[in-house]
Amino acid sequence: MNTQTKQLLAASAALERESAAFGCWRPAFHLAPPTGYLNDPNGLCQIDGVYHIFFQYSPFDTVPGLTYWGHFTTTDFSRYRYYEPALCSDEPFDCGGVFSGSAVSEPDGIHLYYTGNVCHSGDYDYITTGREHNTILARSDDGIHYDRKQVLLQNADYPQDLTCHVRDPKVWKRADGSYGMVLGARTRGGKGQILVYESADGIHFTLANRLHTEPLGYMWECPDYFTLGDVHLLCFSPQGVAPRGWEFRNIYQSGYVRLSASPETGKIVSEFQELDRGFDFYAPQSFLDELGRRILIGWMGLPDLKEYSNPTADQRWMHMLTIPRELKWIDGSLHQQPLQEYYDMCYGETPILPYEEAVTENTFCAKLEFIPDAAHAEILIHEDCRLAYDGACLSLQFGSSGCGRKERRAPAAQLRQLTIFCDNSCLEVFINDGEDVMTSRFYPSGRQNRILVKGNLTRGTIWKIKPFFICT
Ligand code: FRU
Repeated sequence: MNTQTKQLLAASAALERESAAFGCWRPAFHLAPPTGYLNDPNGLCQIDGVYHIFFQYSPFDTVPGLTYWGHFTTTDFSRYRYYEPALCSDEPFDCGGVFSGSAVSEPDGIHLYYTGNVCHSGDYDYITTGREHNTILARSDDGIHYDRKQVLLQNADYPQDLTCHVRDPKVWKRADGSYGMVLGARTRGGKGQILVYESADGIHFTLANRLHTEPLGYMWECPDYFTLGDVHLLCFSPQGVAPRGWEFRNIYQSGYVRLSASPETGKIVSEFQELDRGFDFYAPQSFLDELGRRILIGWMGLPDLKEYSNPTADQRWMHMLTIPRELKWIDGSLHQQPLQEYYDMCYGETPILPYEEAVTENTFCAKLEFIPDAAHAEILIHEDCRLAYDGACLSLQFGSSGCGRKERRAPAAQLRQLTIFCDNSCLEVFINDGEDVMTSRFYPSGRQNRILVKGNLTRGTIWKIKPFFICT
C-alpha cells in the first residue's frame, strides 16, 4: 500500500466516523454510503458463500468526486460488513477516479476489472482529448485490499474512431475457461456502442466485435452481458436518448437488448427496452450467485440531475443501491423480482382493506392483488405519493415530497399485482410480479405514514421490515 493510499483511507475513515450517517432519510434495508456520494454498483459476485457488493464511492463530497470502490459483504442480505474502500485512486493511471467495473472469481481470489480515469490539466474538451480511460486489473492477497494493479488496455489500444470515453469493463469467464469482456464507448461520430473483447488468460485481450444499433444516444455506459436459458441479453446505460412518449423520461436511461448469439459473434436483434420506469435508476449490474440466480442491483440515482433533487446533501450523503432483484425471462421479456431474502425480512403481517386507511411504519412491504380486468385503481402512500392505474398505464406521481419529481408512467395492459417496498425515502414498485418496476426517491414530510387503496382488491397485505445490521 503506498503512502497516498494510506492517507486517502485514513481521511475517508475520519470522515465516515464523524458523518451524520443517521439522518432522518437514511434507509433501513437499502445500502447507502457511510458518508459522501454513492453511484454505480461494481464488482458484484458471490464467492464461498459471501456476497461482495462494491460501489462507486466519493467519500469527500455529496457530488461526484474522486471515486473509490466502497465495499460491503453479506451472506444473507440482512447482516452486512462494511470495509474500508477496496480500491482508491492512488496511481498515475487512475488518478482521476477508480471508475466502474466487475469481478471474476479466480483460484487466487477475486480479480477486479475497472476503468482508471485520468484527466490531464490543460485546455481540453475531455471527450476527444485530455482524458485517459485505462482498463485495469486489480488483485488482492486478502480479498479486502486490492493494491496489485496492472494496466491491461489504454486508449491507444482501442479502435481509433472512438473518443477517449471507453469504460466500465464487465468481464466473465466462459465455459472453456477463457474470458469475455464488454466495454462501453462513445465514437468520434457521437454514437454509443459496445466493444467486445476476448482473452485466453484474463490479461491479454483482443477485440472480437462491436455492437451498436441505430441512433440510441452518444455514449453507452456500464455494459453487462448474461444469458437466461438460451436468451442472450446485453444491458447498458445510454446517454443522450430523446424522450419518446412516457419512455426515456429520465436524463439517462438503462435497459436491455437481445443478442442473436454471445457478444463475440452476435448482433443486436431487438429494440432497447427500459429496465425501470421510475425517477431514480441507473447503471445496473448483474451476477450469478451460487444458487444459480441471476441477480441485478441498480444505482438508485442518476448523475447530472436538473429537474429534481435529494435533500440528503444536508446530511452529507447522497444516493443508495436498489434491493437486489432476481432476473427471469418470462414470455419474451425480462422480469425483475425482489430476492426471497427480502420477503424473509418481513414480519407483522396486517391486511389492507380497500377504501380503509392502514397505518404504516416508515418502512414497509405491501402486496396488493387486484381482481382480473381491474380497470382502475388508486393507491395513496404517505398522502403525497399516488399510484394510479387507468386500464393502460400505471402512473407514479408525487406532490412536494418528490422534490421536483412529478410523474412517470409504465405501460400495463392489465393490473394484476403490485409489490411495494418502501424504505423511508425510497419506493420500489414491482408491477405484475416484476414485468416492470418503478424506482424512486421521495421525502414525505410530517411522517403521515399510511396507505390507502381504492380499487377492487382481492387481497392486500402489509408487513414491517427488519432493518439491516451493518458492522464495520
Ligand atoms: C455511470 C458512470 C460510469 C463511470 C462511473 C464513474 O454512472 O458514469 O460510466 O465508470 O459512473 O463514477
